[in-house]
Amino acid sequence: METSKFFPIVETQDEGYQKTFKNCAELVPTLPRSKGWWLDELFQYQGFWMSSFPIRGSMLINDHFKPRPTDIIVATSPKCGTTWLRALVFSIINRAAFDFNDHPLRKLNPQELVLLFEGHIHKDGSTSFLDELPSPRLLSTHIPYSLFPKRMTDDTSACRFVYICRDPKDVLKSPLSLEEAFDLFCKGVSHYGPFWDHVLGYWKASVESPKKVLFLTYEDVKKEPLGCVRKVAEFLGVPFSQEEENRKTVEEIVKLCSFESLSNLDVNQSVAKRSERPVSNSDFFRKGEVGDWVNHLSPEMVEKMNQITEQKLQGIGFNFH
Ligand code: A3P
Repeated sequence: METSKFFPIVETQDEGYQKTFKNCAELVPTLPRSKGWWLDELFQYQGFWMSSFPIRGSMLINDHFKPRPTDIIVATSPKCGTTWLRALVFSIINRAAFDFNDHPLRKLNPQELVLLFEGHIHKDGSTSFLDELPSPRLLSTHIPYSLFPKRMTDDTSACRFVYICRDPKDVLKSPLSLEEAFDLFCKGVSHYGPFWDHVLGYWKASVESPKKVLFLTYEDVKKEPLGCVRKVAEFLGVPFSQEEENRKTVEEIVKLCSFESLSNLDVNQSVAKRSERPVSNSDFFRKGEVGDWVNHLSPEMVEKMNQITEQKLQGIGFNFH
């Protein structure tokens, strides 16, 4: 049994889990800490600011997760399009299984269909829950690329990551005052931040291992949704056939997963909060537009953020504009 004040209690009979829980409970109180955007405190772990629960999730993944070559991981920084990408990838890989008019996405929020990896590795106090999922397993994560074990990220492993990021100016939404959130964000203190290091990790991996990591931006998917959906399907080894093109399957997927379609479903209008997190289904859908920062950030904030982004992403061959 786990007793640390930093963690929800998870009972486990698994000795391996018990050991990781103990290591994590000893480690976390020794880490640098800071106020976070939401209720939880953040700790600096392996260069990234995370709350204690995903730190333990990351340690459990490293110590115990058994990857399969067919695993697909949807990876994002929070607020960068996780909900959208979950919906798109789920509908791409399951397109033969469901009728678009009677689709699971019409009844369930994308986070219930594509489970959070670092959350569900805790479930049942062993890997049994994840071990029992049928292949291909589709999971979602916010964990930075460098924190995954080599057995998932090196070339001998076939599991794949689809990553989406977004202009950081559009990411700054938090219950804190804008000034406070902005200041913390610019210092790198945000959930799974520094934001730019998160982007850089996945960007570099996508350049070095293009078969393992597909790098997308929210802005590109908005601009070219059909092309992006085709790209994801090809990357995952399930390209659209001519017959599917003729049937307009790509268009159906884009339409089903669009902001207008998902945000208007009853399930996604629910404002009921979950006990463990102050987030309701409707919180995942706000405006769904590119460049809404013009309505929120001052010119000084825009300039500062652009400067940091220029400097951090300098010379890598990618930027948000
Ligand atoms: P805005 O706050 O700009 O509206 P995440 O899912 O990672 O938390 O990201 C949330 C952002 O994605 C929010 O952006 C939300 O409105 C937007 N979003 C959610 N579903 C979307 C969809 N189907 N298409 C486009 N954007 C979507």
